[in-house]
Amino acid sequence: MSRNKAPHLTPEQFRTRGHQMIDLIADYMSDIESFPVLSQVDAGEIYSSFPVHPPERSESYEKMLQDVKDIIIPGLTHWQSPNFFAYFPSNASGPSILGDMLSSGFGIQGMLWSTSPACTELETLMLDWMVEITGLPEHFHSKNSGGGVIQESASSAALCAAVAGREKALRNGHSEHSQLVGYISNQTHSSAEKSLKIAGFRDHQIRTIEVSSDFSMDPNHLLEMIRTDLSDGKKPAFVCATVGTTSSLAVDPVPQISEITNEFDIWLHVDGAYSGSATVCPEYRHLLNGIENADSYCFNPHKWLLTNFDCDLFYVKKKSDLVDALTFTPEYLRNKATESGQVFDYSGWQVSLGRRFRSLKLWFVIRHYGIEGLRAHIRSHIQYAAQFTQWIKDDDEFELFQKTVLNLVCFRHKEGNAKTRQILETANASGKLFATHTVLNDQYLIRFVPGAVRTEMRHVEEAWKEFKSAAS
Ligand SMILES: Cc1ncc(COP(=O)(O)O)c(C=O)c1O
Repeated sequence: MSRNKAPHLTPEQFRTRGHQMIDLIADYMSDIESFPVLSQVDAGEIYSSFPVHPPERSESYEKMLQDVKDIIIPGLTHWQSPNFFAYFPSNASGPSILGDMLSSGFGIQGMLWSTSPACTELETLMLDWMVEITGLPEHFHSKNSGGGVIQESASSAALCAAVAGREKALRNGHSEHSQLVGYISNQTHSSAEKSLKIAGFRDHQIRTIEVSSDFSMDPNHLLEMIRTDLSDGKKPAFVCATVGTTSSLAVDPVPQISEITNEFDIWLHVDGAYSGSATVCPEYRHLLNGIENADSYCFNPHKWLLTNFDCDLFYVKKKSDLVDALTFTPEYLRNKATESGQVFDYSGWQVSLGRRFRSLKLWFVIRHYGIEGLRAHIRSHIQYAAQFTQWIKDDDEFELFQKTVLNLVCFRHKEGNAKTRQILETANASGKLFATHTVLNDQYLIRFVPGAVRTEMRHVEEAWKEFKSAAS
């Protein structure tokens, strides 16, 4: 091959190699239970397994695939293992992987409606479908005052909400940025505080609200802080409430919080990153009581709704609040469709300009599973968690820390923190499962979340046996 010609793949070569890649992924899926769930490599091991310098000449595909098998796979923590019970899950289902492949294959960039109308319009449709599937208020539907967009993560959604809230608070021209205040609780995900910081709030402009005994934000303390700030000449601008906190799935009282934010005209963002997926089942919609009064809301199908990372659904009650804050149109992006006002240009709904065709994977997921299948997925995990909870209740060594919420079980050994930590470390070192911990009220707790795509009751049973054996 001439050294001056880039060695692009022909469509036929791509087809052959693509089939080999699908085989590799399918083999990975079928072999996944044979790997230790938590990667066992040492720091620096993967880096030093490869040449220090990049290749001068095109390398063989076979060699690349072999390196994936020999070096990359041992360096993975297997998030798709049915024995993965850590953090929150990161569901990657077959239909979603296929939809994501298509997004790579088309290689389009959907920053404007005109740069690929299908990218924008399928995304709008998916967000509208999800309003129906999860019973969200109609004002989040694109045909009404609001609308939704896919963000890469709940963190990006919180950042966009913080910026929109900041702009709204400054709009009437009576306040300075230095007067603005944002409110979170000590259980709010760190991404909300980070968002406020990126949006220009300094430490002294961020208040941490106390939580009640169930770790949900205390609305009375919120009200007190807001009143104090107002009397000090500050401008309360942004509150982040959480439906399903990361440590324990506590649910902030959105009905009471939203009464306060409405009264003082403060932007209310509701973070439902994990628990939001449960609202595909009507019996869990109560989690979102009060959502009709929020200015924005997000949840992550990339956690628990069978859709590959990255896919956070972000809704705003009034799209102009978001679009006015984030739209910049330099000359080189001007076009007739934008000027007609008839289309959405999603680059004005997010931080970055460029965007992938992410709605394809969600479309494939919803069409493959149907609403029934989505509900079955969520309900099965909640049932596994209920069974696991019962085993703990019936056990004389372990105890529950709190009532199990959805599929998160927080539990500990009765001997206390050191013993609980040792059990978790022993169980994880076995390679047979992976779970993580949190600390609440100074108590070290194991967080057990059965939520992976291929987790079945038998895996949960094996995990319980592993914890019991680690305790003995
Ligand atoms: C409640 C909550 N909010 C936000 C996040 C951040 O999510 P992301 O990784 O999508 O930014 C998490 C992550 O676990 C979370 O649990």
